[in-house]
Amino acid sequence: MHSNSFVVPKFSANDKINIGLIGARNKGFNILSHLMKTGQVNCLGICDVDQNVLQKRLGDIKSQFGQTPKGYGDFRKLLENKEIDAVIIGTPDHWHCLIMVYACQAGKDVYVEKPLANSIAECNVMVDAANKYNRVVQVGQQQRSGEVWNSAMQHIHSGGIGEIKRVNVWANFQYGMGAGKVPNQAVPNGLDFDFWQGPAEKRAYNPNQVHGNWRHFWNYGGGLMTDWGVHLLDMALWAKNISHEPTTVLASGANYNRDAYSRETYEVMDVSYPMDDYMIHWSHTAGIQTGPYDKAYGVEFIGDNGIILADRSDWSIRQGDKGESEKATKIAKESFDVEGKSDMEIHVLDFLKCIRNRSVTKCPVEMGRNVALYAHMGNIAVRSGARLLDWNADSRRFDKNKAANQFIIPKYHGPWELPKI
Ligand SMILES: NC(=O)c1ccc[n+]([C@@H]2O[C@H](COP(=O)([O-])OP(=O)(O)OC[C@H]3O[C@@H](n4cnc5c(N)ncnc54)[C@H](O)[C@@H]3O)[C@@H](O)[C@H]2O)c1
Repeated sequence: MHSNSFVVPKFSANDKINIGLIGARNKGFNILSHLMKTGQVNCLGICDVDQNVLQKRLGDIKSQFGQTPKGYGDFRKLLENKEIDAVIIGTPDHWHCLIMVYACQAGKDVYVEKPLANSIAECNVMVDAANKYNRVVQVGQQQRSGEVWNSAMQHIHSGGIGEIKRVNVWANFQYGMGAGKVPNQAVPNGLDFDFWQGPAEKRAYNPNQVHGNWRHFWNYGGGLMTDWGVHLLDMALWAKNISHEPTTVLASGANYNRDAYSRETYEVMDVSYPMDDYMIHWSHTAGIQTGPYDKAYGVEFIGDNGIILADRSDWSIRQGDKGESEKATKIAKESFDVEGKSDMEIHVLDFLKCIRNRSVTKCPVEMGRNVALYAHMGNIAVRSGARLLDWNADSRRFDKNKAANQFIIPKYHGPWELPKI
């Protein structure tokens, strides 16, 4: 099991793949449902540290798909089941690394949700684990499989708007504010809150920091910057086929309305990633649900021959008339419509195909790591007070910035330790 020998494909096209789900409340169960609908999998186990969630999801899988997987409260027990070929990791971000490393060591292939992890060091470890144990990994950046994004990229890569020099990415979401403040409470029956916190520092229970709401607390997530950042910045990287790590990051961020809300992550943020021939700009505002072009989120690719505006439902082109300045406001516009499989349907099918033939997924762990670095560095630039950071990809540290370097490796709390590969 703990060997790095070449893995011989063990599935034929008709064999069912046995799946285990770890973290079942929301996205994890959504992925499992998509996998079940393919007819290519059996679900053998579901694990959640909240018994209420676990029982509900065991019931759902029975009523929706007629299967009776075993329930677990400890993912290590689920991983001991040798019949399970692959696991879905649908826990909050602070758990992704430990669970994925244990899963790789147990010989499972992994569908891990985005962002790959909650820190740079964890992302590094996860790449090493996947490679050492020869696992197939799909990161939950399903836009990589989406027909709209693939078609937009084809147009961009074929020179449809000329050379791209800039991309503006934004995400303005109401939920980024966090939940309205409530006092700490007793831990609800059925939730193993100690286990839920895992490697993070122990805190008193507050519902505003747990299910779903964990996103707004540094111990567990990175706010809109990482939650949406990895999906959308990934499109900015894809447009230029960038696989290198960030070089320079320039960021500012603030919290104006915190008294009424439970949140540590930033309400407003602007981050620039200047490169030799390209500039990526990220912006988010929590507490609203609209933005440029009347879109709550979007990506605006700016080439020297026009603009492509894209979101998950379509993309369009805007081209001005270069020759006549008074006509510059006349915009040539065409829309693109797709009818077909959703991003998620294609992404899970790709995962199954890659498990069968041991090939590289649409979003392998290296890709998940790289964009996670871009997103985390936006947060680190603000949290450290540095604002401007230079990343050294060789040393994997920020040049000349002690405060920022302190955010690279998370502090794990016992009994959990950051895995060494
Ligand atoms: N790709 C996407 O579009 C997308 C959408 C939503 C969420 N996500 C990602 O999915 C992940 C989960 O998000 P969510 O919204 O489902 O969160 P959630 O809080 O709704 O659910 C997480 C579940 O994990 C459980 N859990 C926590 N620690 C566990 C552990 N050690 N073992 C087993 N179960 C554990 C919790 O009890 C909870 O039921 C996050 O990484 C998030 O960023 C991705």
